[in-house]
This record gives sequence, structure tokens and C-alpha cells, in this order.
Amino acid sequence: MARHALFRERRIGHKQRSDEMRKRLVLRSLIGKLVGALKLDANREIIAAGPALKLRLASVPGARSEWHVLHDLPVAPDERVRRHAQLRDLRKIRMRVGCKTARKELINPGAAELARRQTDAMHNDEVRGDTRGARVKMRRQHLAHPGEKPRGPINLHAWNNATIALRHAENAPMSDSNASYVARDLAHVWHPCTQMKDHEQDVPLVPIRRGQGVWLEDFAGRRYLDAVSSWWVNLFGHANPRINAAISAQLGELEHVILAGFTHEPVIALSAALVKVAPPGLSRCFYADNGSSAVEVAVKMSFHYWRNVGQTKKRGFITLANSYHGETLGALAVGDVELYKAIYKPLLMEVRVVGSPDCYAREPGVTWAAHSISQFAHMEEALARHHEETAAVIVEPLVQCAGSMRMYDPVYLKLLRAACDRYGVHLIADEVAVGFGRTGTLFACEQAAIRPDFLCLSKGLTGGYLPLSVVMTTEDVYAAFYDEYVKLNAFLHSHSYSGNPLACAAALASLAIFDADKVLERNRVLAAHMGNRARVLEEHPHVAEVRQHGMITAIEFLKNKAAREPYPWQERRGLKVYRHGLTRGVLLRPIGNVVYFMPPYVITPEEIDLMVTVAHEGIAKATCD
Ligand SMILES: Cc1ncc(COP(=O)(O)O)c(C=O)c1O
Repeated sequence: MARHALFRERRIGHKQRSDEMRKRLVLRSLIGKLVGALKLDANREIIAAGPALKLRLASVPGARSEWHVLHDLPVAPDERVRRHAQLRDLRKIRMRVGCKTARKELINPGAAELARRQTDAMHNDEVRGDTRGARVKMRRQHLAHPGEKPRGPINLHAWNNATIALRHAENAPMSDSNASYVARDLAHVWHPCTQMKDHEQDVPLVPIRRGQGVWLEDFAGRRYLDAVSSWWVNLFGHANPRINAAISAQLGELEHVILAGFTHEPVIALSAALVKVAPPGLSRCFYADNGSSAVEVAVKMSFHYWRNVGQTKKRGFITLANSYHGETLGALAVGDVELYKAIYKPLLMEVRVVGSPDCYAREPGVTWAAHSISQFAHMEEALARHHEETAAVIVEPLVQCAGSMRMYDPVYLKLLRAACDRYGVHLIADEVAVGFGRTGTLFACEQAAIRPDFLCLSKGLTGGYLPLSVVMTTEDVYAAFYDEYVKLNAFLHSHSYSGNPLACAAALASLAIFDADKVLERNRVLAAHMGNRARVLEEHPHVAEVRQHGMITAIEFLKNKAAREPYPWQERRGLKVYRHGLTRGVLLRPIGNVVYFMPPYVITPEEIDLMVTVAHEGIAKATCD
């Protein structure tokens, strides 16, 4: 018996195959792995993709690059390719390849798969069904580098009815089609908000091949429910057809143009659309390209406004304890999450931090509203004492997302608006995370019926597709900058990609979905379901609180419920939940000891059930010792 047997599916049950072979196949790969997933038909073999192996393919039809990375070769060379391949390389492949790595998506002869044209960094593949029978036609062109364009038709004679092969490596370590991506990634990519060493230890890096709706799929075909909307950006699912179409249409017209001195239809239309839905009075839109930049804009604009109107003493900012506004130096300065801020303090401007209305800290039996009102005393005092030197107060309305999804009552915003008016201080509402329906209303400020002086929006603005942010402000603020050029009162702030047309087109499509699908109404039903399901966890001996604002639900677990004693952060218990989530196909990304859900709005009740169940299991695992 060859150590690395080649298996042809058409021989299943055939007397040529020994019992041992059958057992091996059945036990190690076919059950639930391939047969179920792939519905293999006759005349095909499958090859498992291996990690970062290189195969010299001297005369692969259409090949231009001499070296072919095998992990990018999920649909294997057919017989003729195999013949051309150097023997030693094949042996190497056989040593390494494991059945676990078969990439079902490429060889699944289902209609959707076969109709799809696939292009990745190294290949231009076309996989099509053959109407004459259950056969797969495959055309492949090898690209020398990721940017290379496919070079016209491929030699179909060579590739028609390509045999797809699976090699089993009996004693080889199980390889994973994700592994090569991970290796290539770790060679050069420095990931955001990450201790990179973790990825070499026990925190898996997950390469994602595609997304569809709430689901992400890796290169081994494993799926993950995106319970965090990919860092709170995605609203209507991955690969949303309507947003895709809008971006494609825009792509054919104009990809980008400088927004200083020039303009374009998508930015004009988007500005009008935003003014229509934002709190009344916010009639001016200033664009940037991410949430932190929007905060920088609002902070600079407020400071600059007061200078332009002759109040040069007003240059300070007040922020809430535990708030987060981004990572650039200005945004970091007006935030208060120690983990991100502490090290950079010498670089940051001083801001005044006042007690947060965060309702986690309330006494038993006290309502959110009562607690939020009582906490306002800190703000009132700060404003009374410092308003003369304060330009603005900045808050995250209703939910301090990066600050462990701590929540408070809308009444606080009402009191804050009134106090800012009384003391002549701007109010900056940073709705970068909570805007676009997350808290139940399109904007969180609506729940307090207030209009901030600056409204910062990003993340969901484009439905989670492209980087774009906007600061919406009033005619009063706009007028303070409107002057003769030589007075140098203009707001001379810019970003290269400000108001990018593709991003604006995505934003317009996303806003249209809110209307067309009555999203906020539908979300009320989903939010109620999510809340009901999650509240079951309140009984858990290590769960301190389940809290919710609209489509955001958070579960805070701790060491000792009676004493409200948290687990030490060094124990990284949330990471256990994260890891468990991945094994169960749910992307949960706890913040410390807080597991939260902020899913795309296209999630179904059944998917919510799965998400909550997996979180429940994860918390049980993370708190069992
Ligand atoms: C409230 C808030 N403001 C600003 C930011 C920064 O946005 P970005 O990551 O796009 O710079 C974030 C990011 O999470 C946020 O939650």
C-alpha cells in the first residue's frame, strides 16, 4: 500500500480498492468532510490544498510564473499537469497534504459555485458546469503577481473536464488551507490593536476568503457568524447586492476626485440625504475618511470656531470617564480608556475627565434614568467652573462602546444639551459607533430629542463597505468660518480621500435600504428577540449584568457576583470566549470581560439564537475555574 494514496472517487465501492483504503477514506475524510459537503460526482479527484508549498509546473497551460504556490491551487492539476510536475515536488506535496484542507467551495459542482468566476492573487480561475453531464470544466490562468490582469481566454483544450484530485497523506500532519495565508500574513502584516506574539501562540489568525450576509468564510470553508459587524461597521451584511451594485455603478463613472475645488454627484446627494435624516439644524457636512479623523475635525472646528468669534480662551475639552473617540492623537486625548491612552499621555493635550453616567455602577434598585441624572452633577460642576475655557464637551451618546459597552439613559443627553446651551459650550456627539440604527433610532441623539453642535459619523455610514466619515454641523458654525480668504478664517483641514465617490455611493445605497426595508421597525423585533435570549444569562453565577440599547447587547461577566469583583484583566478570560466562538463558528470579540453582540441587521432570529448560545457556552467555559 502506497503511503500516500491517490484516491479517485469513481472507485468508491469498487473492488479495486482495498478495505483498508476504504476505511481510511471513510474515517479520515469522506464522512462529513467531503462527501457531505461536496457531493462529489464521478470522474473527479480532489486535491487538498497544502500550506505554502511550491510546485514547479514547467508546462502548465497558461502558466507564466514558474513557481506555483500549492496552497493557491485548490483545484488540482489534472493528470497532464501531474505528469509535468517534477517528481520530487510531488513527493513533497504528498508528505504535507492532508484531507482536511480540501477547499470545498472551489470544487463543489453546485450551480452557484460553478457559475462563479474566481480571481485571487495568483490565479484567474473559471469553474463552470458542463451541461452535458455532472462534470466540471475548469480554466486556470496563472498570474505572476497579484496586480496582473488575466490574459484573455485560456487554453480550453488543455483544461476542459479537468480532473480534480485529492491526495491523502496517511501519515502527514493535518494541514490547513488557512495555514499558508497565515504564514504569508505574519511575514509582513502588522495587525491593528494586536499583540502580534499572540498569533504565534494561542490566538488564531483567521484568513477570510469571502463574506455573505452575516457570515464570513475562511479558506478551509469554515464559516463564522459576524456578531460584531466587523468592528461595528457592517449594517446590511457582507456582499450586500444593493450596495455592491451601487459601488459597481459608481466605479464605472468616477472612482475618486479631489474634493477641494471639485465636487461630484455622490457627495452632493449624500450630503442632502444626511441633512434630511439628521437632527434638524445640522445642515453642513464636512467629510473625512475614518472615525478618528471625524473626531479630529470636530475638535479642531470647535476650537477654531471660538477663535474666529473672538473667544480665544475657549480651548479646552471635557470628556466622560471611560469614553473612547479613536486613536489619532487628538481623538486619543479626548478619550479615556487607559489601555489605549496611558502610554501616549506625554504626547496628548490635557482634557477634563468627568464621571460617566455609565449605569453599570448604579446601586441595586436604582433606575438607569435616576443614576444618569445623579451622575450629571459631575458634568454640571465641571461646566460651572470651567466653561469659560471650554470649547466643547464630547460624548458617545448612550453607549460607550470601546469602554466595555457601558450604557446610560438618554436623559443625560437632555441635561447635557441644556447645560451646554446655558454655559456657551459646544456639544460634540460622537456617533461613529452608535449611529445608523445601532441604539434603535437612526441616531442615538434622537432618543433625547437633542441636536448636537457637531455630529461625528463613520463606520455604518457606508454600510461597512468603505472608509468615510462626516462631521455634520450648524449654519452658525459654518458662518464663523465664512469670510474673505485673507482673514485666514477658513477651516484648512483636508484628507486626500475626503468624500470619496465610491464610499459616498455605498453610503447612499445603505441609507436607501433603511427606507426601503423599514429597517428600524424590523430591528425592533430582532432587538427584542436578542434581548430576551441574552437575558437568560442573567441567572449565570458569573454574569453581573445583561444590558441592551437597541441592536447592541452586552453581557458582563465577573469573578464574584455578590462582591462585584471582576476577573483580573491579566487572566484574559474574554479571549477564551473568543476562541470558543471561533470553534463554534461565531465571531465574538469580547472587550475584557464583556461579551457583546452588535450584529449586521440582516441577522435572523435563528442566527441570534446561535450567537447567544455560543456566547453562553463561551462564558461557561471562561468562568469554570
Ligand atoms: C465612538 C468612536 N469614535 C471614534 C472611533 C474611531 O473610529 P476609527 O476606528 O474609524 O478611526 C471609534 C472606533 O471604534 C468609536 O467607537
